[in-house]
Amino acid sequence: MPRGDTRHTMSQSPYHLGFTTLNTEVASTNLPIHGTLPPWLQGSLLRTGPARFEVGDTPYNHWFDGLAMLHRFEFAAGQVRYANRYLQSQAYREAMAKGTISRSEFATDPCRTLFQRVASWFFPVLTDNGCVNVSRQDQEMVALTETRLPVQFDPATLETLGVREYAPHIKGPVATAHPHYDRARRCGYAYSLEFGWRSQYHLFSIDESGRQTVIASLPTDRPAYMHSFGMTERYLILAESPFLVNPFRLLFRGQPFIRNYRWRPDRGVRFHVVEKETGRVVRTAETPSFFAFHHANAFEEGDDVLVDIIVHPDATVIDQLYLDRLRSTTPVTASGRLTRFRIDPTGKATSETLSPVSIELPRFDYARRAGQRYRYVYGAAQEPSGDFLDSLVKLDLDQNEFTTWHEEGHYPGEPVFVAAPHGSGEDEGVILSVVLDTKNETSFLLVLDAATFTELARAEAPHAIPFGFHGNYYG
Ligand SMILES: [Fe+2]
Repeated sequence: MPRGDTRHTMSQSPYHLGFTTLNTEVASTNLPIHGTLPPWLQGSLLRTGPARFEVGDTPYNHWFDGLAMLHRFEFAAGQVRYANRYLQSQAYREAMAKGTISRSEFATDPCRTLFQRVASWFFPVLTDNGCVNVSRQDQEMVALTETRLPVQFDPATLETLGVREYAPHIKGPVATAHPHYDRARRCGYAYSLEFGWRSQYHLFSIDESGRQTVIASLPTDRPAYMHSFGMTERYLILAESPFLVNPFRLLFRGQPFIRNYRWRPDRGVRFHVVEKETGRVVRTAETPSFFAFHHANAFEEGDDVLVDIIVHPDATVIDQLYLDRLRSTTPVTASGRLTRFRIDPTGKATSETLSPVSIELPRFDYARRAGQRYRYVYGAAQEPSGDFLDSLVKLDLDQNEFTTWHEEGHYPGEPVFVAAPHGSGEDEGVILSVVLDTKNETSFLLVLDAATFTELARAEAPHAIPFGFHGNYYG
């Protein structure tokens, strides 16, 4: 959908600019600020997200498909500088050169001749369109999508430096875009998914020199679509929702990747608790079915393993995120609820809903609380009368209370928590969130005091920023 006529009509959602291609790239510019930034905020928020939703005349189908753009908000001396640049992935370069979509994405396949389709069975070409998350891996910054092809970029210039494919011994085309980092062990963890007669999830570590080591391989007859996983001090936790694929349907597919998956609620959800040190599956558990994209945190309490996940009743949430629907006036159902699963040593699992309100894109004080008991979760939320993620929420898990930030006509993205450098309180710091202002048709970076959840400042971007997914702050 071209920019230009941005007045929304009866047939357009008020937030359609969040799903409209952004052609402008800004090298680095000082943003006008309202309010005052804390002087200790000296670092950069790096984010990624889809920003081109068609190539030539060919549209992408789904929010998760669009070509990735990097955004940087750099804080220094009370000022904010902003830059944005398309990730020059192979998927992007090929698309620009050919004038049409080149690589298969989550819910979009390029047009192919029969010969090309057969060739792709034998020589599958994966996308490297890192529109999901950014991560620092062995001191290098990478943009991630859900394949084995992270793309390295320079955080100072947002220049793309090239694909940093996982090592050949990390099998499988699919990999999570939500790696964990274990501060005590000074290593990262991630997983890949290998399809075959005997499909397997491979959990692997990434040490400080970038060396990747498989620590466990879990066979599965029907692989699940799994977007993230859990981590405690000793364990990694996979939660397989029953949104499953027959690997051979995928191999000989006539449909985009995710359309080969089927909802099988009778199978329930399978939890696998894997010990980091030995790779042993120390516990498995089953619960009634649910679907999830995002784990929040996980931790151990005595002999129990507690896993906090944003739970949706089923996988229809994926259907609601097709671009045609998101740009229409049909509201999105606010179905995500933070739910705590307690898995005891016998493999019995119980659950408890922690959030009385909808929540997605959960964040917490990861640097200090990952894998440990924690009190506060932040997320994007939807007002009861809302049509999309239109507010921010802070959950106090100890007091069972919540606080929200909401302004009419504003649509905020993932809230990133930044701890104050010498603060001791878990919520001592700020929240950073990119907000679309539909009245002004621009976006701004919102800075909230994380403790009071009130506004400290906002920095006005020069354009509307398409809705992204994830980012991180690097001090
Ligand atoms: Fe995600």
